[in-house]
Amino acid sequence: MTGSNKLIAADQHIISELEKLPMDYWDFKNEDTRELTHGIHTYPAVMVYPISRNLIRIIKQYQDIKTLMDPFMGSGTVLVEGVLSGMEKVYGTDLNPLARLISSVKTKHLHYDEIKQAVEALIIELNSQYANYDQLINSVDDFIRNEKKLDITAKDGWGSNAPDYLKEFFENKNIQFDIPDFKNIGYWFLPKVIIELQIIKICINKINDENIKNFIRVAFSETVRLVSNRRNSEFKMFRIALEKLPKYNPDTKSEFIKILTRNIEKMKSFYDLCDKKEKDTEVFIYDEDTRYLTNIPDNSIDLMVTSPPYGDSRTTVAYGEFSRVSLQWLDLYEVSNKSIMDIDKNLMGGTKFKKGFENSLQSPTLKAALGRISEIDQERAGDVYSFYKDLDECIKSITQKMKINSYQFWVVGNRTVKLENLKTNEIIEELGQQYGLEAVYTIGRNIPNKVMPSQNSPSNVTGEKVTTMTNEHIVILRKVR
Ligand SMILES: C[S@@+](CC[C@H](N)C(=O)[O-])C[C@H]1O[C@@H](n2cnc3c(N)ncnc32)[C@H](O)[C@@H]1O
Repeated sequence: MTGSNKLIAADQHIISELEKLPMDYWDFKNEDTRELTHGIHTYPAVMVYPISRNLIRIIKQYQDIKTLMDPFMGSGTVLVEGVLSGMEKVYGTDLNPLARLISSVKTKHLHYDEIKQAVEALIIELNSQYANYDQLINSVDDFIRNEKKLDITAKDGWGSNAPDYLKEFFENKNIQFDIPDFKNIGYWFLPKVIIELQIIKICINKINDENIKNFIRVAFSETVRLVSNRRNSEFKMFRIALEKLPKYNPDTKSEFIKILTRNIEKMKSFYDLCDKKEKDTEVFIYDEDTRYLTNIPDNSIDLMVTSPPYGDSRTTVAYGEFSRVSLQWLDLYEVSNKSIMDIDKNLMGGTKFKKGFENSLQSPTLKAALGRISEIDQERAGDVYSFYKDLDECIKSITQKMKINSYQFWVVGNRTVKLENLKTNEIIEELGQQYGLEAVYTIGRNIPNKVMPSQNSPSNVTGEKVTTMTNEHIVILRKVR
């Protein structure tokens, strides 16, 4: 914090409240961070809910907070906490359609009986469809292997032309069946799994109630990831090791029902808490680039809590790649295959500055770091600049939406590029000044729970490993003008 800051009373109260907390308070090492609807669907770099819960609790002691925003909402952790804390309105934006689906499902409290009834009906329908297609499900892998003489683990043949082979399979049997068709579907799914997923999708599409349908779609999305040929521990698209694929035999229907059953219980506990509130929270979820927020009214937000990306999707967390197979199966909001493939390019830091860049960003810390990276690798410096240029625009547009004296909590990780540690916490403080933001306090936290690539080789020397991120900061800013 700079010495010139004039602390208002609320700042001082908040700082003393924070300073009273033990050093490891923000680590939440032993907590179940997947309770309530927080446990519905995985997402990369989720911000564990106790962070936003505690920040909201602390701020509420000193300010009357009615509106909350998370402009990089991801899977909606902050929004769920906003709903639970009784906000009048919560706003979230994200360019990833899967993030919007998950967030809208996690924040909409659906009655247990209503979901249970719909899911029971779905399972009856599913069992009947499975019985109809049983012989096909059990013979398709053999058809591809033995009649078409194809290797179902190969990239070419089945891997690149799966829809054509499946069409032939159904035509031979004189059966009308809608074959899903997207690039490399055969590379990512076994023949039997494609038919099973399509049967589940057809059954889901028969449901009329949009809220229930979306709730079930989220379980379907998780099933798609789980039964695909992807390595599930990775957010990027890596396939299960080739030698393991021939024995890979996921039980698609059981996995789907297991996930659905778990999600129903999570929703029940969320519903029970929401039901105790006097008034429902209005939730607004927008498909917007945070650099140009247009739907949220200016000067309307009391509190912002967010965790933005750590860097561009290509070299840090690829949210689009994580979501790809789910989105290809979901047919959400009529999102085209091209826009699914392009998600990562459109997220922060997606613009490439191959021919250099002119840095006019108001951060001495960033300027010095960019200078050092440029000396080693001009193109990487361009990538880093691209990310902070977008971040700067986001800070500007977010601040425009906020009321005077409102607080912004930025949960950020400092990563290392070309051995240069990028102090995003300081860069945000510096960039914020020109938009009327004053730095109030910064909390440091370890991130034991976060699923993140903890090591890579930013210097690109084979075998060299440098820890990219060991801790995070929670940067607290207040809009003073
Ligand atoms: C770290 S994640 C947020 C995770 C979230 N806190 C949670 O708990 O799930 C960052 C999110 O920012 C989104 N994002 C990146 N660039 C964006 C942009 N320019 N506009 C809107 N959303 C963006 C990504 O799609 C991603 O979902």
